[in-house]
Amino acid sequence: MDRKAHVMIIPYPSQGHVGPLMKLAYNLADEGFKVTFVNTESIHTKIMSAIPQEFEEHSLISLVSVPEGLEFNRHGKDRFEEVAERFDHLKNLIEKINRLENDEPITHVIADISVGWALQVSKKMGIKSTAFVPYGSANFALVLQFPKLIEAGIMDVNGIPLKDEFISLSKEIPAWNTNELVWSFHGDQELQKLIFRHFIRETVEYVKISDFLLVNSACELEQSACDLIPNAIPIGPLHASNHFAGNLWPEDSTCLTWLDRQPNGSVIYLAFGSTVVYNKQQFNELAFGLEITGQPFLWVVRSDFTEAEFPDGFLERTANSGKIVKWAPQEKVLAHTSISCFVSHCGWNSTMEGLSMGVPFLCWPYCADQFHNKDTICKNWKVGVGLVPDENGIVTRDEIKGKIEQLVSDKDIKVNSLKLKKMARKSISEGGSSFKNFLSFVEQIKKF
Ligand code: UDX
Repeated sequence: MDRKAHVMIIPYPSQGHVGPLMKLAYNLADEGFKVTFVNTESIHTKIMSAIPQEFEEHSLISLVSVPEGLEFNRHGKDRFEEVAERFDHLKNLIEKINRLENDEPITHVIADISVGWALQVSKKMGIKSTAFVPYGSANFALVLQFPKLIEAGIMDVNGIPLKDEFISLSKEIPAWNTNELVWSFHGDQELQKLIFRHFIRETVEYVKISDFLLVNSACELEQSACDLIPNAIPIGPLHASNHFAGNLWPEDSTCLTWLDRQPNGSVIYLAFGSTVVYNKQQFNELAFGLEITGQPFLWVVRSDFTEAEFPDGFLERTANSGKIVKWAPQEKVLAHTSISCFVSHCGWNSTMEGLSMGVPFLCWPYCADQFHNKDTICKNWKVGVGLVPDENGIVTRDEIKGKIEQLVSDKDIKVNSLKLKKMARKSISEGGSSFKNFLSFVEQIKKF
């Protein structure tokens, strides 16, 4: 039998993490690897109901599930009573696969840095491993700096800022406001402590024990940040291409035929990833903002995006100019010639996707790394503008209308967007930096 190298991939259980790792899984399968992709039961169920039939039975990728508890929950405790229990689940799964006569043993584990404990399991089992960072290199460089930030008295041991100042890692990277760090969450200090404890504190250790460190970015896009983490291997921007994008919701492809009917460069695309939620007032302002802008729009309103109803008569009044879906095939949408701009929360995946398609951004960050991603988009790459909330924290309809008009008429931003698109595409094309990094990574892990 032709024995294949067998990689186990373990994402943190949420869309922004499952997606890029699924793309990596397909890239590895294209290189002849067998891949076992491990999700929690609830994520596995969502994937199985969202995955289009043609992708269901990839001969080299097995989708498997383990009980809930790969992540922490918001009540402050790990879902498993004992951390040891989730270690056992993973160990048992690997041992079970390795006992199967008709399957290749697991030769490598790739774990999301947010479930870095899986790297400890693989280390204990003597299996080589890779840590995967689903967010940008600049934010990751900041995460790795946290011991120094504590030492300098900029934050306490729980990641709570002690000083209201900016943190600068290099003059080419936008500085971080201490209220907008990767582990910040709307000033909710309890949640911030929890995020810090579960996602950040062990990161340095996880990086130390892993054999490789992959980042979904390209060195041309974040050169100064990449210089700060020389052992990281940028292999992005990862794309779904013609593969399954790892979605947890079924894509509504009717928006693509709707886009076909719109004039070139006319449609405002709005999507806020998988976790952003808006209250009634913000949802209303956004709806009215779109209406008064008078441009065609495609708006992703997930079923859990808001508890509010659309404003009275909004759907009727915008029936000809607007299309609303619960989940879009985002990469295909962004690549469509009808799109004029992307109103985005600046999640890292959306950032990489919009950039790769040359679409200008209207930035509306919500939490975590998204504020700094916005700064990178607007200040470094100069491919977008940011929305500014009013004194009550609300982005008003006039602000939305004004900034959309400013964005779509800005020729420099359009030129930069196309330049960055070229750069991003080149990095993953034959001979490009991410392309070469990926192949060299593949060669090395094949040896195990
Ligand atoms: C989160 C964080 O926001 C992000 O910054 C972090 O780096 C990873 O986890 P999320 O908020 O969901 O992720 O946003 P984002 O990173 O942009 O990922 C969303 C993904 O869902 C993108 O790949 C996007 O293409 C996809 N998507 C979104 C769709 O396919 N269809 C949609 O309608 C909306």
